[in-house]
Amino acid sequence: MNVFNSLGSNYNLQFVFKALSTKNDSNHSAKLKSYLENKYQGKAILVYKGREALELALRLLNLPPGSQVAVNGLTCYAVYQGIINAGHEPEYIDIDGSALNFSPGELKAKLKENPTIKVLLVQNTLGYPCDIEKVAKICKENEIILIEDLAHSVGTIYENNQEAGTVGDFVILSFSQDKMIDGVSGGALIIRNQKYQNIKSIKLAELPYKQQFIDRLYPLFTHIIRTTYRIKVGKVAHAVLKEVSLLSQPMSNQKLQLMYRLPGWYCRLIHAQFIDLQNNLSQRRHIVQVYVKNINPKILSKTLVGNVSRSTNLRFPIFVPNRSELVKFLKKYKVYVSDIWYDAPVAPQGYTSLTNYRHQCPVSERVSSQILNLPTHRNITAKEARKISERINEWLRLQ
Ligand SMILES: Cc1ncc(COP(=O)(O)O)c(C=O)c1O
Repeated sequence: MNVFNSLGSNYNLQFVFKALSTKNDSNHSAKLKSYLENKYQGKAILVYKGREALELALRLLNLPPGSQVAVNGLTCYAVYQGIINAGHEPEYIDIDGSALNFSPGELKAKLKENPTIKVLLVQNTLGYPCDIEKVAKICKENEIILIEDLAHSVGTIYENNQEAGTVGDFVILSFSQDKMIDGVSGGALIIRNQKYQNIKSIKLAELPYKQQFIDRLYPLFTHIIRTTYRIKVGKVAHAVLKEVSLLSQPMSNQKLQLMYRLPGWYCRLIHAQFIDLQNNLSQRRHIVQVYVKNINPKILSKTLVGNVSRSTNLRFPIFVPNRSELVKFLKKYKVYVSDIWYDAPVAPQGYTSLTNYRHQCPVSERVSSQILNLPTHRNITAKEARKISERINEWLRLQ
């Protein structure tokens, strides 16, 4: 068993070949655009990253510079970047202790404390739905623009049975590595509110060939790394490819100089995954059911377990105080889960100090210090999930 949380774990060999061989045909872009417009009922713009889609949404709103954009207090640096690049300020709303999203109560309290908030982003962390009905009502009452970020939650079903992406004024999607829809990179903005649809054409730059070349190779390189990790070759290849910058990295603290048009070959990979979404969701749910059935319930969140059937289950979270010990223990059995979403309120941890986060979210700090994600992707079997559960229980007994 060699199991990773990330490192191309969404891909199979067919994907590797498609990434290498698909032509840059504008028909692929047109097909994806029309699919998204139909699915999310809005005007779609395809870009290179989810953070660009967020920046674009905020720019279309024409808000005064430095406007307050409220976000989940457990989030990703890319979200921070999207807001800052648009010239605005993130305002963090602490999460509910039993969930990974803020509650309507926390939202109300934040709006009272800071009535200048103009925009709210919900993100359904790891695919677990937020309480959208109440959140949307609060936004309407306070004239706040609602953006649904589906980076983790393409396919999430809210409590009121609406699919994620069919509620907000805007929807942003990320198709980056390890997301529900993984096209190595990619993003989309869906303008659902008609008031903002009447835009002149947006100027997007052409993505450099070098970046496309690196992205095309990512599925192949990660396939080689994962399959040869056992015999150490993979480990060395991973280190070398990273060192020479040939391994496409999803996170960077560099500001993208421009917003880029998403080339056709990414669009074909992305569209194919939308078509296969139900299989992806079923696979992940099946694996999570194995974890829920087998892992000691004292390290699970009852609220999240109760939402498994509505979630995309992008990853399955467990909560342990001495997380690094468990990571080391699992590594002995070739289960590599050190890549944690999220290990800080604005993750990854090393990036938090670059942001305006100043301990506003104590619950998020506690949760992010204890959370550990188990893989649910297509490259893990039910048998492996059972084995991982047993190892975790074994480790717990040793504590
Ligand atoms: C919640 C969330 N939104 C948006 C993004 C942006 O993704 P991208 O890397 O495509 O810019 C991420 C990235 O990890 C994310 O976790």
